[in-house]
Amino acid sequence: MIQTNVLDTELKGKDLLTLMDLSPNTIQALVDKAIVLKKEKLAGSDHGKPLAGKILGMIFEKSSTRTRVSFEAGMLQLGGQAIVMNSKDLQIGRGEPISDTAKVLSHYVDGIMIRTFSHSIIEELAEHASIPVINGLTDLAHPCQALADLQTVFEVKGKFTGLKIAYIGDGNNVAHSLMVACAKVGMDISVATPQGYEPDAAITEAVLGYAAESGANVVITNDPVAAIKDADVVYSDVWTSMGQEEENEIRLKAFNGFQINDALVANAKPDYIFLHCLPAHREEEVTASVIDGPNSLVFEQAGNRLHAQKALLVEILKN
Ligand code: CP
Ligand code: NVA
Repeated sequence: MIQTNVLDTELKGKDLLTLMDLSPNTIQALVDKAIVLKKEKLAGSDHGKPLAGKILGMIFEKSSTRTRVSFEAGMLQLGGQAIVMNSKDLQIGRGEPISDTAKVLSHYVDGIMIRTFSHSIIEELAEHASIPVINGLTDLAHPCQALADLQTVFEVKGKFTGLKIAYIGDGNNVAHSLMVACAKVGMDISVATPQGYEPDAAITEAVLGYAAESGANVVITNDPVAAIKDADVVYSDVWTSMGQEEENEIRLKAFNGFQINDALVANAKPDYIFLHCLPAHREEEVTASVIDGPNSLVFEQAGNRLHAQKALLVEILKN
């Protein structure tokens, strides 16, 4: 059931920089709303154009397919509009301060979505903007991805508690947001990374706190076989994230043994589902046999970015 009051309190006119700011009830309500919006869309509804007259400005300092197109399509489907800005074409690309950019854009648009490098950049933008700021990926977090991930799991499994997700790969942005999301909604999560690539210690500490509240079991390990044992959901991300391209060779060696392949998924539950935020590198972090196999839901998951973000946009930008 959609808990409108919780959504109003935590989202209306607010920023979404990480899922750490949201209560478990709000996260569940967003998932429920995303599922409703998806059904409406499939039935041909325009949702009553709740964002008519609203404009979302989107700043990209890194490449994007899913985030860019799903946010833009989402705004249009909700009756609003989006302006896509590549940071190279903005004056920030020539050194104009983020704080000035935030103040200026606040006069033109109703909300800003940004994909950037350091998380401190989005924090600075949010501090100086008088309009909501949404995280479309920083080096620390990818909250919109995690909302779509939860939606995908909930649609297929119908619950969060009693499920185990195994994330195998780099302990960075996507892993961080998945950990926060799972711990908040009570889903067990095991994260397996090579040594030296573990999740951020402060995020892990916070996640353990959320897990203590929800009852989720959180395991951080360097053993992919232990992590994937009896998992209901298996999750992977690239080994070399955007901005780390120079480390590619080192990372290929470091992540040896962390590929999700047929031998590894044989340890998961027989009805496991495979998720990946995409883009994927077949035969690197995951084999084609898994990502293109019968247990993979990666394209449904990518599709859910649209619905999860529409739920978020309606709640953040509505009058
Ligand atoms: N998963 C994701 O954020 O994809 P893009 O980089 O294509 O936006
Ligand atoms: N970890 C990846 C996610 C891309 C959506 C990156 O930061 O490049």
